[in-house]
Amino acid sequence: MIVRPRRLRKNAIVRSMVAETRLSKDMLVYPYFVVPGKDVKHEIDAMPGIHHFSVDALIKDTELSLKSGINKVLLFGVGEDKTEDASSCYHNNSVVVKAIEALKKEFSDDLYIITDVCACAYTTHGHCGILKDGYVQNDETVEVLSKMALSHAEAGADMVAPSDMMDGRIAGIRQKLDANGFVNTGIMSYSVKFASAYYGPFREAADSSPSNGDRKAYQMDFRNSRESIKEALLDEQEGADILMVKPALAYLDLIKEVKAHSNLPLACYNVSGEYSMVKAGARAGWINEQQIVVENMYAFARAGADIIITYHARDLVEKSWI
Ligand code: PBG
Ligand code: ZN
Repeated sequence: MIVRPRRLRKNAIVRSMVAETRLSKDMLVYPYFVVPGKDVKHEIDAMPGIHHFSVDALIKDTELSLKSGINKVLLFGVGEDKTEDASSCYHNNSVVVKAIEALKKEFSDDLYIITDVCACAYTTHGHCGILKDGYVQNDETVEVLSKMALSHAEAGADMVAPSDMMDGRIAGIRQKLDANGFVNTGIMSYSVKFASAYYGPFREAADSSPSNGDRKAYQMDFRNSRESIKEALLDEQEGADILMVKPALAYLDLIKEVKAHSNLPLACYNVSGEYSMVKAGARAGWINEQQIVVENMYAFARAGADIIITYHARDLVEKSWI
């Protein structure tokens, strides 16, 4: 035998030398759930280790994130007034707006703030947009989301991340931001986002379950692959700065697919259900949490993700898993 692949697996040093994929904490984005109130730090039942934070408590925890080397956060607002028309999502005193202002005041540009832009936590019916006759209205919803994005930009958000899956929302938001002078506020688009049972724990966290039906009339059908290229390229044309595939673990093929068709940086969202399954397995003693999490992260990077949004981020850096 001349060729012996095992030579390059002989010890840890040579394995690391030839490793094809590298992970860095620069790739990690850490999600936060912000609620009204003071001094609130309340663990979310279905997501061990992840909490609801009031703005003051969020500042303290973000300081820990920054200390550990995580300087990018994704903010979700929870517990606002819910109305039929989602109007509280674009108020300039929404809890997310307050959080952005407080974080920027405290940490300035040491912290990069990305905000989720979607109506589902702000509607009585829990759908991601304006509901009429049982159908989520596309263009009206884009209008509402554009106002929401603008309110975040005005508060100081570095980047907005629309997660609704309406058609044309990237163009709508880009236009709204530019018209108001926010030409440098970025857009990370949840471009390839599937209607997925993996969002289960998040919906408890964000109190955003649709009270009727599901999200299949706007989020993508998981039987589709080619459609992810269509969605990704549309968002690129409409001005997205970063694309995303979500969920991540069951969709590694699409991370690779989108990466092959667009030159934009690509994020993946290691979603709540993926996180909670690992936590549950680890709690039961059935899997090794550290090894599973690290293996998952390398899988995302190997598939082509440049950016990983994950609830495991703090564990990864604080426990020196990567
Ligand atoms: C809001 C939104 C969702 C997630 C991110 N933004 C839920 C959904 O679309 O139902 C999921 C995140 C997660 O599961 O961790 N549209
Ligand atoms: Zn939504």
